[in-house]
Amino acid sequence: MFVTFEGVEGAGKSTALAAVAAHYAACGVDLVCTREPGGSALGRTLRSLLLDVKSSMVSEAELFLFLADRAQHVAEVIRPALARGALVLCDRFTDSTLAYQGFARGLSLETLTTLNAAATGGLEPDLTLLFDLPVEEGLARVRKRKEELGEQGCDRLDAEAVSFHAAVRKGFHFIAEHAPSRVCLLDASLAREDVLAACLKAIESRRH
Ligand code: TMP
Repeated sequence: MFVTFEGVEGAGKSTALAAVAAHYAACGVDLVCTREPGGSALGRTLRSLLLDVKSSMVSEAELFLFLADRAQHVAEVIRPALARGALVLCDRFTDSTLAYQGFARGLSLETLTTLNAAATGGLEPDLTLLFDLPVEEGLARVRKRKEELGEQGCDRLDAEAVSFHAAVRKGFHFIAEHAPSRVCLLDASLAREDVLAACLKAIESRRH
């Protein structure tokens, strides 16, 4: 089963993914946790280019780097894991391209849908957990986490204006409305244990 975790910056999807993974690991489930960008060796090089504030790139160049990451990741990591029956938990996937490069950067959604399908060979998630939070709250969480870790500055996409992140959130809402059987919209402002319970409930209802 292929489960993707999506949402605005700071919505807690990576934390939730780790908690879901810990739950299934304790149950002895064959599990692969991965992310985009950066789920393969090539992808890790692309991730550092994509997130570096010093990288200057037009929206189309950015798009093709995300797609190159995805094509390699699907072929090298996701498809082999699914073929052996593993539960694959992936932090971001095709919906992030629609929300960020489509709704926020303004690239054509139709073109992005075609290019996403080319990169994935038509692979789609069985379930997408969409973590929803007002963007100011998410960005404040990102800043707080960085302070706690002693990290400085933002990555290239975190550093975009609040209006950019608001467009991303709108895009995710649009996706949730148009794919209700695949996308489970979660209120990320709830307590961590409630968010985890909602994730497990959504996964379990589709696993059997
Ligand atoms: P994150 O996974 O640590 O949130 O960082 C990845 C960043 O890349 C995040 O700002 C979302 C962005 N992104 C896109 O813009 N398009 C994509 O297709 C993907 C996978 C991520």
